[in-house]
Amino acid sequence: TLLNINCKTIFTPTDQTIIAGFLSIAMSLQAIKYDGKQLLIIDQLQLPFLEEYVNIQSAKDGWDAIKEMRVRGAPAIAIVAILSLAIELRAFLADKNKSAGDVGSFVIEKLHYLVTSRPTAVNLGDAAHKFEQMVNKQIAKEGSTGESVASAYFQEAEKMLANDLSDNQSIGAHGAKWILEKTGKTTVNVLTHCNTGSLATSGYGTALGVIRSLHSGNALGRAYCTETRPYNQGARLTAFELVHDKIPATLITDSMASALMNDPKANVSAIVVGADRVAANGDTANKIGTYGLSVLAKHHGVKFLVAAPRTTIDRATKTGADITIEERAPSEVTVIKGPLHRPTAETLQMETVKVAAPGIDVWNPAFDVTPAALIDGVITEKGVVEKGSDGFFHFDSLFDEEA
Ligand code: MRU
Repeated sequence: TLLNINCKTIFTPTDQTIIAGFLSIAMSLQAIKYDGKQLLIIDQLQLPFLEEYVNIQSAKDGWDAIKEMRVRGAPAIAIVAILSLAIELRAFLADKNKSAGDVGSFVIEKLHYLVTSRPTAVNLGDAAHKFEQMVNKQIAKEGSTGESVASAYFQEAEKMLANDLSDNQSIGAHGAKWILEKTGKTTVNVLTHCNTGSLATSGYGTALGVIRSLHSGNALGRAYCTETRPYNQGARLTAFELVHDKIPATLITDSMASALMNDPKANVSAIVVGADRVAANGDTANKIGTYGLSVLAKHHGVKFLVAAPRTTIDRATKTGADITIEERAPSEVTVIKGPLHRPTAETLQMETVKVAAPGIDVWNPAFDVTPAALIDGVITEKGVVEKGSDGFFHFDSLFDEEA
């Protein structure tokens, strides 16, 4: 399907050549394409109707893409922020005679700017903090130059992209194994929420990675995905990925989840979701609606799992009460967006339709917090963490090697 990309509207002929090069190596859905000189991100606002890539040329482009949700999902926004700055840093270096201090101040100022794009996902702030520390260390090195500081930044950025992919594959494998062991089944049906797949990460995904892993091990009966109002990440993005990978899957509206859990034919064995920030005790901020699903899981005696890389675990935030929840524009609730006609690359025109009574007040929190008490396990790239006898999660041992 990547071959259907429409380059017409936003790309110059040079861009198109670069995309053709990327396409020849991209066999699976790849939301972020970075080759050190170019950063292309799939425009998630156009999905699933059109696979169009946006060329990100600066930290400002990265900030806008994150704010407008052209890219979204906790790991993906951190990666795009860091890579957008890498692109701008290359241009900054082209102007010669930059000292280590010049490069350091440039990078740190842009990192501080990038973290202001969205507040809830910890991955962005965490990455910015780590890159700032790394840059400061490089500057302090004897004989450091603008080139040496920048080159350390580029290397670290590439490592971040590659590590996220391999971490997701490990999360998938650990999660699939845990679910099969704990349920004692050889085939399971799983419900997921929002989008946690290739579009939300550097590839493969977290909760969707677990579903991918179950599927590739012939252990998935069916995946159920919620529509995920108001932004419809489930209907637009998760459904798109599931169809793309030919994974047996069914879409439901958010309000159907309880009926689904009560339906013996659906036979859901586990609910697996992603996370934007996991507090030190395990309380987890994730897409609005996640908390409700955890209550449902408890009522139905079904496993409720959070799948997230260690970069999503925020040990500095004690509990969920300390997590800032982003509130977004009322128009996301009062208006529905989609194409009026069956689109082709030439005819796609997104239309907005008002669905709410004019004048009504709207509350639109993008995330909610699921208490640790309702979570059975946190699936990380290092394994599945379960609660201690005190009823809370303890993540410190996951970070032992970093100490
Ligand atoms: O507002 P979004 O679309 O960025 O929210 C995304 C989610 O809540 C995801 O579940 C979370 O970021 C995990 S993505 C691997």
